[in-house]
Amino acid sequence: MTKTLTLTGMLATLVIIIILPLYVILESDQQKELLDDYYTNAVLTSTESYAQNCAVCHGAAGAGIGDNPPLNTDAIRSMSENDLAKVISRGRYGTLMAAWAVEEGGIFSNAQIDDFVAFIQQANWAYVEARVDELGLTPPEVIEMEISDDMLASVIALPDGEALADGLLIYAENCAACHGSNGAGTMIAPAIDSADLRTTPQGEIVELVNSGVSGTLMTSWENILTPGEVDSVVGLIFRWPDLMKTEIEFPEVEVMSIPSSPELIIAGDNLFNIACKSCHGVDGYGTPMAPALNNQLFLSETPDAAIYQIIAGGVSDTLMPAWGSRLSDYDLQSLVAYLRSLEQSAPVIVPPIREP
Ligand code: HEC
Ligand code: HEC
Ligand code: HEC
Repeated sequence: MTKTLTLTGMLATLVIIIILPLYVILESDQQKELLDDYYTNAVLTSTESYAQNCAVCHGAAGAGIGDNPPLNTDAIRSMSENDLAKVISRGRYGTLMAAWAVEEGGIFSNAQIDDFVAFIQQANWAYVEARVDELGLTPPEVIEMEISDDMLASVIALPDGEALADGLLIYAENCAACHGSNGAGTMIAPAIDSADLRTTPQGEIVELVNSGVSGTLMTSWENILTPGEVDSVVGLIFRWPDLMKTEIEFPEVEVMSIPSSPELIIAGDNLFNIACKSCHGVDGYGTPMAPALNNQLFLSETPDAAIYQIIAGGVSDTLMPAWGSRLSDYDLQSLVAYLRSLEQSAPVIVPPIREP
């Protein structure tokens, strides 16, 4: 596979170095076809790689997910080939965008990176979306709390209800997954409807939400929410008792426990292949980008709940993304069940990482 791709890449280089100047002079139809074929091949092979490695963050149709930017825009298509190749090869330091070039510790040859560049400039995203779906690689939806029109209407009817409703919508989309739909907390995050918290000066809470709490699942929201949005969601924390007084029905919150079943393990295996394999390797044996998880030492020393937290919260200042706001509780449990299922057969000594 890699060989074929490298060959495609070499051909592409030849096309560009040798044939292109000729092409300009001769403008022969045959050579035009050759170029078209090159782009078609680059786009087709990259569609598969995109589905396996990029769709989890940039979305099946390239429209972006959460903070991960869209790739299907004119602004991206009009970036120079050089800039596109650079960001894919080297990643962007300090963001989830990893370096993908082999020479930067990633998994793609330069020829494959060039294919991605052609892909991003030419992709028919409707086709990509359909293909990603066909491969069963469409990323899971972000968990959000559903707010019914009725609930929203009752909130708006409260004194200064518009502001409260604004805060609630931001909370539902960004915070409820961890802090619980009714603000009462979950296994992974403390209650936000807390009298104690309301004795803290509002400015301090704004500051906390902006900076996050390092080393915990509470990430920094500064670059995700506008200052106005942070103010409204913090305002909501202070007015939570007003919400409770209305007898509004909050949607159910699931309580976390970490079960295991054959179905859960299969679901976790599938999800691992979508979301984790690109870094943690085939069957969790590791890659130069991330450590082996299929490893006796890690599995025997790390309890389920801790694995759950690491996956949900990520490891700050490393490539390990926080999945908590992107995967549902069920998805996270399935990953834990899958990793745990590897324990019995996991190697005691981690085998050397296979280069792709
Ligand atoms: C773990 C999530 C994640 C994965 C997987 C991922 N990206 Fe990204 N990507 C990001 C983020 C976040 C950014 C924005 C970085 C920044 O803030 O500058 C980004 C930026 C980019 C950009 C630049 C967009 C711009 O606006 O400048 C390109 C191009 C890109 N990614 C392509 C890819 C390709 C191709 C793949 C698969 C080989 C991929 N990404 C995989 C998260 C991801
Ligand atoms: C991925 C899970 C997660 C998400 C999403 C999340 N939080 Fe948190 N949050 C936490 C955890 C965990 C803590 C506890 C941190 C610690 O140990 O100090 C916390 C703490 C807090 C605290 C301090 C609570 C206290 O009693 O000290 C506030 C306030 C807060 N979060 C607000 C928010 C807001 C507002 C949002 C949405 C914009 C949000 N959080 C989204 C996990 C999360
Ligand atoms: C963009 C690359 C990347 C992706 C994608 C990724 N991880 Fe990680 N992961 C890492 C890195 C790097 C580390 C090591 C962090 C450190 O230095 O502590 C890590 C660490 C971990 C750990 C802790 C391992 C240990 O030895 O402490 C677990 C568990 C884990 N990842 C699970 C997952 C799961 C499950 C997924 C898919 C949902 C996933 N990771 C996706 C890069 C990634």
